[in-house]
Amino acid sequence: MKNIIIFGAPGSGKGTYSDEIVARYNMGHISTGDVLRGEIKQGTQLGKIAKGYIDNGQLIPDELMIDILANTYDSMPEGKGVIFDGFPRTIPQAEALKQMLAQRGHDMGVMIELIVDEDTLMTRLLNRAKEQGRADDNEETIKKRFAVYHNQTAPLAEWFQTEGMRHTFTWEGSKELMLENIFKFLDTLK
Ligand code: AP5
Ligand code: MG
Repeated sequence: MKNIIIFGAPGSGKGTYSDEIVARYNMGHISTGDVLRGEIKQGTQLGKIAKGYIDNGQLIPDELMIDILANTYDSMPEGKGVIFDGFPRTIPQAEALKQMLAQRGHDMGVMIELIVDEDTLMTRLLNRAKEQGRADDNEETIKKRFAVYHNQTAPLAEWFQTEGMRHTFTWEGSKELMLENIFKFLDTLK
């Protein structure tokens, strides 16, 4: 499978659909949020830096994030395609990803954009807070994450549009329908 960038607001389902895509197409998965939460759990220096940003709903600085992404990408098995979940989130990150992949002779592939209304997003994240207790899943931090998404990340959709990579899927109330539409599109790429 080609590389896939899965893009959307907090709670839009990037992680959930990534798991389904990975299972169907047997590809690699990089969730930058999961990488950072892993570092925090292990108490590394990077984790200590990341915690301050994550708990406050802010983005980790681009230079740091770009290094982490390149190192993680190089540790993945080659040739299967990777799904990037939560990266890129800014235009400098997108430019760096494009360059990093080009240096390795790889292609960015396609971008899948998930559009979900904000009330649904908030409900999902508050439900997840009860089940998983993620430090940034509280109403105050979720609102900050939504604002960061709108101001810093959402404008990137236009960048992908210009690259001819943007494929948008809008939530219509059914996870099965969402998945069916995403798979129908990805099946055409194999
Ligand atoms: P990250 O971990 O990427 O969090 P996020 O973008 O806020 O997104 P979430 O993981 O909360 O949501 P999701 O879209 O994966 O949805 P999910 O599938 O879980 O980033 C966290 C932080 O790390 C950032 O704030 C930042 O500080 C830092 N960071 C990470 N990457 C960075 C980068 N590149 N640059 C700088 N900083 C970075 O679904 C949500 C919930 O909804 C789940 O519980 C799911 O089960 C449920 N759900 C219910 N119904 C559905 C449905 N129909 N479809 C999908 N999910 C559903
Ligand atoms: Mg996620």
